[in-house]
Amino acid sequence: MTDQALDRSVVVGVIGAGAMGAGIAQIAAQAGHRVRLFDNRMGAADQAQAKIATTLAALAAKGKLAPADAEAAAARIVPVHALGDFVSAGLVIEAIVEDLDVKRRLLRELEVVVAPGAILATNTSSLSITALAAGLKRPGRVVGMHFFNPAPVLPLVEVVSGIATDAQVAAVVHATAAAWGKVPVHATSTPGFIVNRCARPFYAEALRLLAERAADPATLDALMREAGGFRMGPFELMDLIGHDVNFAVTKGVWEACFHDPRFTPSVHQQELVNAVFLGRKSGRGFYDYQGA
Ligand code: NAI
Repeated sequence: MTDQALDRSVVVGVIGAGAMGAGIAQIAAQAGHRVRLFDNRMGAADQAQAKIATTLAALAAKGKLAPADAEAAAARIVPVHALGDFVSAGLVIEAIVEDLDVKRRLLRELEVVVAPGAILATNTSSLSITALAAGLKRPGRVVGMHFFNPAPVLPLVEVVSGIATDAQVAAVVHATAAAWGKVPVHATSTPGFIVNRCARPFYAEALRLLAERAADPATLDALMREAGGFRMGPFELMDLIGHDVNFAVTKGVWEACFHDPRFTPSVHQQELVNAVFLGRKSGRGFYDYQGA
């Protein structure tokens, strides 16, 4: 293996066809790879493929993409219905639920399906790459490939190495992300990696202000946008990320930092998850998106 980007002839597998998996599938397909997309929720991969095709057609209609390229990219994404369909993949990126045990189980099932040289990448926001790889036959090929939401738009990709990650695997993933038009950075498997570690207080302090009734979410968001210069306020951003994902990440970073009080999760977040008010994806979070 060299540290060159993966050739476009390499098949890319994406597992999890939610917000992140769909975006990653779109990026890989636009870069010229054939993509296999799997989700364990019935119909989710097919729906995601159809949605990506619509997105690409809309980009073509706006003149941002040649219509033939949009159609070809959409056609390169094939929904699949079993992990066995990843046998020919040279890179598999998982973007399933943020849960260590579930992701570990998936990686264990996957490693016996793919070829020995295939790279197993995870889009986890916060879980230890070292822990995800532990117990696998080839932990060296497990690496973080952490995209940001929305993945087709935001350039940054953290390439995260755990203790066992092979340096060449990280180098190939770094080069591949660059070849896909992204701006990759190397990171080590420390709690929250780089961005989520820095971003935690952005959410945590906002949630504390809310708990203290300093102001409502709309006021705090407007302040951060208009006075702070942020593209989105913390409550809008949490609604975009999804409270299930963001709460899991908050808890993960807090636990991994030995319960450092700076990263303490909020009861409000927990209650939003309990209520299934997950943000944009469920139609309601801090804000109401029904009819939006
Ligand atoms: P999501 O909830 O939109 O999608 C997750 C998808 O995975 C769902 O369609 C679900 O059916 C599927 N899934 C769950 N368990 C599965 C399994 N065992 N096998 C196959 N499919 C399974 O979640 P989202 O937001 O796309 O997040 C996915 C991953 O990406 C998480 O690890 C998260 O931490 C990470 N991430 C999320 C970001 C965000 O802003 N939402 C940003 C960067 C990373």
